[in-house]
Amino acid sequence: METNKIIGLEKRHVMQTYTRPKFVLGHGNGCYLFDKKGKKYIDLVGGLATCLLGHGNKKFAEALKKQIEKLTNSTNLYYTEEQVKLAEKLAKLSGLSKCFFSNSGAESVEAAIKLARKHTKKIHIISTKEAFHGRTFGSLAATGKEKIRKPFKPLLSGFSHVKYGNASAIEYAITKKTAAVQYFDDFRRDTNRMRKNWKIFCIRAR
Ligand SMILES: Cc1ncc(COP(=O)(O)O)c(C=O)c1O
Repeated sequence: METNKIIGLEKRHVMQTYTRPKFVLGHGNGCYLFDKKGKKYIDLVGGLATCLLGHGNKKFAEALKKQIEKLTNSTNLYYTEEQVKLAEKLAKLSGLSKCFFSNSGAESVEAAIKLARKHTKKIHIISTKEAFHGRTFGSLAATGKEKIRKPFKPLLSGFSHVKYGNASAIEYAITKKTAAVQYFDDFRRDTNRMRKNWKIFCIRAR
């Protein structure tokens, strides 16, 4: 199908929640992407850092094929050997004991918010004004960007937003009611300090 036809069909049949550049991706090879017209790009997005195995990765494709031929979606209602093996590997690599598997970034943010609330029995969560944490109601409340928040107000209560890159602003915003600080990258040293001083959750969902 031709590029213009695909773009036209997208406009007609897909909800317009994203503005996309005017080319259509066809295939990839390693870190390279090729559009339908054959133009080559370096993929610096990498599935928003979630699928960094490269495009057309043979080993990955073979593993997926093998699994799909054996068992597809078995839901969380049942045990599977593969899930447990992956959880064990992630626990070893992260140094943490348990995993929560989710389908998207927003869903993992939701889980982190719920975990913080349940664990601390408090509801106040601090994130940053510039932050994007997803589009579900909990993750949207954590998201600071006003343009994304505005059409869906009133949002889930209990969130406040401070300027990004300012650990002192976060410390100032923490009160006895604070359950968690939600941040993205770069704050590891500061949040370690806050975790120690304030004994609060520091959420890093991705
Ligand atoms: C920091 C961060 N958190 C959460 C999300 C939401 O992830 P998803 O689109 O998979 O729900 C994103 C997506 O861009 C993100 O960048």
